[in-house]
Amino acid sequence: MADRLGAAVIGLGMMGERHAAIWSQLGTTRLVSVYDIVGERTQSIAGELGCEAAASLEAAINRPDVDIVSICTDDQKHVEPCLVAAAAGKHILLEKPLATDLEDCDAIIGACESAGVKLMVGHVVRFDPRYAVAKQAIDDGAVGDIIQVYGRRNNIIDSGRRIGPRTSVAFFLGVHDLDLMRWFVGSEAAKVHAESASKVLANIAAEDSIMALLRYQNGAVGCLETCWVMPKGIPCTLDARLEVIGTKGMVRVTVGDEGCTIIGPNRATRPDILYGPQLHGEQAGALRTQLEHFADCVLHDRAPVISPQDARAAVAIAAAIHESLRSGQPVYL
Ligand SMILES: NC(=O)c1ccc[n+]([C@@H]2O[C@H](COP(=O)([O-])OP(=O)(O)OC[C@H]3O[C@@H](n4cnc5c(N)ncnc54)[C@H](O)[C@@H]3O)[C@@H](O)[C@H]2O)c1
Repeated sequence: MADRLGAAVIGLGMMGERHAAIWSQLGTTRLVSVYDIVGERTQSIAGELGCEAAASLEAAINRPDVDIVSICTDDQKHVEPCLVAAAAGKHILLEKPLATDLEDCDAIIGACESAGVKLMVGHVVRFDPRYAVAKQAIDDGAVGDIIQVYGRRNNIIDSGRRIGPRTSVAFFLGVHDLDLMRWFVGSEAAKVHAESASKVLANIAAEDSIMALLRYQNGAVGCLETCWVMPKGIPCTLDARLEVIGTKGMVRVTVGDEGCTIIGPNRATRPDILYGPQLHGEQAGALRTQLEHFADCVLHDRAPVISPQDARAAVAIAAAIHESLRSGQPVYL
């Protein structure tokens, strides 16, 4: 291995562009190659960041100087790049969700296990200090035995219009909290019952909002609220909460006002401060911390803090939510 790990990025949309910039900025990594099915996108990011504009998935990955592959394609397009990267013996940092069904999850996990490569799914909220500190408080006994957990993740309508035709709000947004709720409660989901509404995005057959009730194996109950049609008048793009109540205490995380409001003549906005802000010309925040963590795990042969089974469990609950929406019945996991 060279002095710096080499990274390739597959899929250069909103997230892939950020991954590529971060790999080019970290002290332990360098960006080697990028690839998107849209050739112009590949050329423009490669030109901007100074790496190979690969002509194919294989060309981006099958280079001896690539150690890590970031996969940032759409939710349903995670399998093929993962199989190519695993077969080439590259470590994989895959954007959430692991996949949108359990068959695909198992194909990805199986390929990584057979190849002996690390796989981490980017459940980036685990790298948000607010959630990580709350989880530590739970582990330290501040809450006691958990009774209930509530997770909310709501986005403005731009998100539903942009992503709605390709995936569901449960897989795109809700999967973050399904992972967090399971992590906080420390128990597997046993039963799920979900309801949805579709009014604004009915023309593209997507749910506007999904609400789910959960029961965990340890007896705790949970409630997930996830929606991507909030009006643009709200000053923040993301409104998220996580609250846990236990026998001894409670913890509450609130996301939406990070302490910086930009006020114009007609509208106030609250920019992202914690996930992917620019800080003195570089990408900062939880996404950078997540990529740094994965590079360290590869460099020092450590297990990433999010296991493939954690990511699979979140997909299993999201899939059960969709099964409940389809059947109108509770689903037992
Ligand atoms: N961690 C987070 O907070 C977060 C936030 C947003 C999105 N995501 C996840 O990141 C992934 C990408 O989302 P996005 O918002 O960047 O989407 P996007 O639509 O902006 O980008 C996806 C890109 O992948 C490219 N692509 C599609 N199929 C490809 C293929 N087979 N090979 C190469 N390129 C291909 C598309 O051309 C597009 O440029 C999704 O899985 C999404 O759920 C995570």
